[in-house]
Amino acid sequence: MDLDTALTGKPAEGASATEILRADHCEARRLFAEYRKAADDGHARAVIAQSLCMQLELHDAIERDVFYPALRQIDAEWTTRASEAHAKIAAATERVRTAADAGEPLADAIDALESLVDEHVRDEEEHVFPKVDAQREFSSGELGRALIRRKEELTRSTEYFEGPAT
Ligand SMILES: [Fe+2]
Ligand SMILES: [Fe+2]
Repeated sequence: MDLDTALTGKPAEGASATEILRADHCEARRLFAEYRKAADDGHARAVIAQSLCMQLELHDAIERDVFYPALRQIDAEWTTRASEAHAKIAAATERVRTAADAGEPLADAIDALESLVDEHVRDEEEHVFPKVDAQREFSSGELGRALIRRKEELTRSTEYFEGPAT
């Protein structure tokens, strides 16, 4: 990944699946760091926490919908373990969102979320991305394009973020 990509969090056109997912991981790490830097500014922290939740939910969705079904062909056992980690992260994300919405203190919920995300991201980047990159059909741009397409579909869908219309 080049410096521009690392700074903007946006992978280049034609990026591989793992480059796209690593860029998402970088963005999540950046938001955790930004949250810490906001120190005593409760409003800023709540806004950053909401961005973080949205970022993690999108990442969860594109991995579950596109990446993990492909990954299951390489390592089914790991994929099952990863899906369990995602469920825990989703529950921890929801706790952060609920606290941020209610204007409640976020520190404990953020700490719990960060440690789950750290552990899973390390597992993903160290144990499974190298296996994916070694497979020609997954390191080509096609899986990357499918991830981007899914992300675009989700970000266009207001239902995804606001819940179904009533
Ligand atoms: Fe990931
Ligand atoms: Fe994941």
